Amino acid sequence: CTFPTFPFFSFFHGIRAIRGIGSDAIVGADAPGEVCHVHINCGPTFRYWEGQSLGVVPPGLCPKSGKPNTVRLYSIASTRYGDDGAGTSVSLCVRRAVYWDKETGAEDPAKKGICSNFLCDATPGTEIMMTGPTGQVMLLPKDPSTPVIMVATGTGIAPMRAYIRRFFVEDVPSWNFTGLAWLFMGVANSDATLYDDEFQECVKRFPGQFRIDYALSREQNNKKGGKMYIQDKVEEYKDQVFGLLDGGAHMYFCGLKGMMPGILSMLEGVCKEKGIDYEEWLEGLKKNGQWHVEVY
Ligand code: FAD
Ligand code: A2P
Repeated sequence: CTFPTFPFFSFFHGIRAIRGIGSDAIVGADAPGEVCHVHINCGPTFRYWEGQSLGVVPPGLCPKSGKPNTVRLYSIASTRYGDDGAGTSVSLCVRRAVYWDKETGAEDPAKKGICSNFLCDATPGTEIMMTGPTGQVMLLPKDPSTPVIMVATGTGIAPMRAYIRRFFVEDVPSWNFTGLAWLFMGVANSDATLYDDEFQECVKRFPGQFRIDYALSREQNNKKGGKMYIQDKVEEYKDQVFGLLDGGAHMYFCGLKGMMPGILSMLEGVCKEKGIDYEEWLEGLKKNGQWHVEVY
């Protein structure tokens, strides 16, 4: 790939050119759309924590403005040690943005997402302009005994994968997770699950400490007969979830912006049933640092 000269981009904080290691599609044939695991060699000086994001500046000019493409943010999907444990790489979970033209009934490649396609098409050696890392909202609690409830839709699984690997895959010196980790994951169907093989290994090895519940919107129905969305799945376990939050659990949300209104209205309904003041309850979670949201 060719890039505009470096000083051109120097207004971005901490921008660096790094190299892709590879990108692999990680969903099955019946998943709607493509999601890729992108593995990037960032070297030892790009230090990041689980829950942070990074920026990618795709090469070339923006077709609308004619100016250089601007930065896009991606949640980091690896732990600080990277997928290979060497501490020199970072991984992303990227949905390839395509444009479906309703009038022609076909994809219009001229309108495809610039950065996501660049990343999904990256091959070993592709140069990638990166900024960051950024973000503190999704950092894990310091106390490794704190229960963690994770609610993800689609690529919102990225930070959760980092947490899960930190909890159950890596042997982290002086940081041993002893809490409960509970993942609620919303995807369209069973072909669209992300990193499920990795997660099932962890469930096998830590059955009392890690559980996963899927909301498969196009395969399952909620109790009203509608699509099974993530908020419906969380609601099924409302007593346990509220109990864990009362006991100090941290709750993390990542993925579609559109899920938050449904989640909040579900929680408000549960509070009503339980005779809890919803506003006060939510404010309390936020004040205690138990509430973490990163949606886009
Ligand atoms: P763009 O080129 O920016 O286009 C955006 C959309 O517009 C595309 O769907 C494209 O098809 C459409 N479009 C293009 N041209 C036209 C046109 N002429 N008319 C109509 N439509 C058009 N994404 C992930 O996949 N994984 C993540 O982990 C992730 N984390 C994020 C974290 C944060 C905090 C935020 C804010 C966003 C995150 N995103 C993530 C979203 C990501 O930043 C990008 O927005 C996304 O990849 C799309 O960027 P793009 O450059 O591919 O699309
Ligand atoms: P669906 O697409 O069947 O409506 P994506 O893969 O597009 O990121 O979506 C992840 C999951 O989030 C899909 O199952 C999708 O369902 C679901 N979803 C879409 N809209 C909402 C919403 N408003 N609330 C909760 N889940 C949603």
